[in-house]
Amino acid sequence: MSIKKEDQLLDHEYDGIKEYDNLLPSWWLATFYGAIVFSFLYMGYYHFAGGPSLSDELQQDLAEIYTKRKSLEVKDNGPTEEALAAILADKSRVDQGKVIYVGKCASCHGNLGEGLIGPNLTDNYWLHGDASLMSILLVVADGVAEKGMPPWKGMMKKDEVQSVVVYVKSLKGTNPSNPKAPQGEEVKN
Ligand code: HEC
Repeated sequence: MSIKKEDQLLDHEYDGIKEYDNLLPSWWLATFYGAIVFSFLYMGYYHFAGGPSLSDELQQDLAEIYTKRKSLEVKDNGPTEEALAAILADKSRVDQGKVIYVGKCASCHGNLGEGLIGPNLTDNYWLHGDASLMSILLVVADGVAEKGMPPWKGMMKKDEVQSVVVYVKSLKGTNPSNPKAPQGEEVKN
């Protein structure tokens, strides 16, 4: 840094080292005061104005990854609505689905799909998706962990998941005698 005319040599000396009484460089002061201002803005936004916490941001990013992954999975190697419709038309697959349903799903959705802990699967009201075969496949495969619906894709073979999905679809409109009250939105599918 240049030494200005008015700079004073201070009168102390340490081991032959003398110093000037210089002003702090302005770039340094700018960074320093800038950091102070920033810290107030930061604290105001994140601690008092409800800015997202790190874990909120993580959850958001994970949710985004999850959605992208889900749709990629379906696009790349998942079956299509038509392929599932063909399985629905195959009585042996629907029967296989029923066996799986009774063994793995009835404890929460009722023997006839009337709903118990889990929602009624025979009515036109759905919490997840539009009741198309593909949307049922997604919720059965991925589950709804936070609500107690297990993700089944790791616990069954793909074709078993598909069979139970078409069985669930076949329950629609079967009007069991003790239905659980509708949950979610009414859908047309
Ligand atoms: C431990 C209990 C439990 C078991 C076992 C279970 N479910 Fe569920 N299921 C739930 C709950 C709870 C929900 C509601 C999730 C929510 O509130 O978002 C649900 C939701 C669903 C939905 C979405 C319903 C809607 O309205 O959107 C489908 C479809 C479904 N389950 C199918 C199945 C199938 C098929 C099986 C067996 C392979 C199964 N479930 C096993 C608890 C269970």
